[in-house]
Amino acid sequence: MERLVIRGGRRLAGTVRTSGAKNAVLKLMAASILANEPCLIRNVPRKISDVEVMIGVLRGLGVKVDWEDPTSLRLDPRGELGFHAPDELVREMRASIQVIGPLLGRVGHARVYQPGGCVIGQRPIDLHLKGFAAQGAEVREEHGYIEVIGEKLQGAEIHLDFPSVGATENIMAAAILAEGTTIIRNAAKEPEIIEEQNFYNRLGARIRGAGTDTIRIDGVESLNHREIDYSVIPDRIEVGTFMIAAALTGGDVTVQDVIPEHVEAISAKLREIGAEVTRGEDSLRVLGRGRPKAVDVTVLPYPGFPTDLQSPMAALLSVADGTSIITDHVFEARFRYVDELLRMGANIRVEGRSAIVKGVPRLSGAEVVAPDLRGGAALVLAGLVAEGETTIYGTKHIDRGYEEIERKFQGIGAEIERVID
Ligand code: EPZ
Repeated sequence: MERLVIRGGRRLAGTVRTSGAKNAVLKLMAASILANEPCLIRNVPRKISDVEVMIGVLRGLGVKVDWEDPTSLRLDPRGELGFHAPDELVREMRASIQVIGPLLGRVGHARVYQPGGCVIGQRPIDLHLKGFAAQGAEVREEHGYIEVIGEKLQGAEIHLDFPSVGATENIMAAAILAEGTTIIRNAAKEPEIIEEQNFYNRLGARIRGAGTDTIRIDGVESLNHREIDYSVIPDRIEVGTFMIAAALTGGDVTVQDVIPEHVEAISAKLREIGAEVTRGEDSLRVLGRGRPKAVDVTVLPYPGFPTDLQSPMAALLSVADGTSIITDHVFEARFRYVDELLRMGANIRVEGRSAIVKGVPRLSGAEVVAPDLRGGAALVLAGLVAEGETTIYGTKHIDRGYEEIERKFQGIGAEIERVID
């Protein structure tokens, strides 16, 4: 059984490089469906499994996908495309539903199996579907499939009940070739949305406002562009994971290839727990100073503290001096990792959307199972400070979003290895 084995107690030091942002890359790959000419996407995290799954989904729809070099992906959507995304891949990865918006624009029809992905809450897709319906699409949910049909969509004014990242992206994509203007209010403001706006505009779309809560998409008759060459932003969640690891181990780590503004909320929290965070142009240095202080963390949509770093932060606070309360206002049940941290000696109680973390002086190594992607990352961090050996099963979850996590941590002094037998 594949597992990560960590011997805790090493102080992390040195420089680690960030990969391209998973949650941007996956959407840009889906966006290529709307292109007329091939798109080259650079800085792609090749070794994360979600990228492999998205390649499979796109190939299943008829897009030609090839690696041009180890981190550059060439997507050629010319020719006829299908509308039915491969069921077994959609079941594996929720981000597959992001092909619906681009498919509507391109072929006027999308059929997608009810998506899978990390079990971190209910994760409905009603906001996506309401958006498509407002744009005049016919939406059907039957026999486990979501079917969206709309040859020529109409611009619409859409107010999202919650600033959902996926719904904002999907509605934005569907609006690009619609007739008239679409306005999305209470839109998600994540940096990944700006990235998509920039990419689509390079294809010839007319989108403004990404990064604010109101996005305006003026529909265009057709997209007109030459071959695209686009480099993806660094993964702010991976950056945050290394920052937290540095603070947790009392280390001195420089994270290279960073857009510091994207991780302001994390930098601020780490300063509160007593770490020193110094900003470079495209790097951040984190210096851990003694036992972390307890702090409360409120998880909110961007620019708030990100839900994807809620569990890594809980690993840190589990050894803090005092009691911390973490409240997640994005996903209501993203606490499955807590049982595993308890096995390692943490003292955490979950009450509704909150985790009450009573800091203990030390964690102890144990055999644990990654329940989901970021929960798995939290266990790795806990293993780095625990006394003795920690074995983490369920590595496939971690590999969905972190590229060679063991190699990167080894590079800054961690004693961690992957065992496959
Ligand atoms: C994206 O998921 C990310 N995934 C998630 O990262 C991230 O945690 C999340 O945004 C929030 O930042 C990708 O980009 C592939 P949402 P998404 O729609 O788009 C509710 C990771 O670990 N909601 O913003 O699915 C939903 O249930 C992953 O890398 C509805 O109610 O997130 C949740 O409570 C996990 N109806 C909240 O909104 C809908 O139609 C936010 O979800 C859509 C969402």
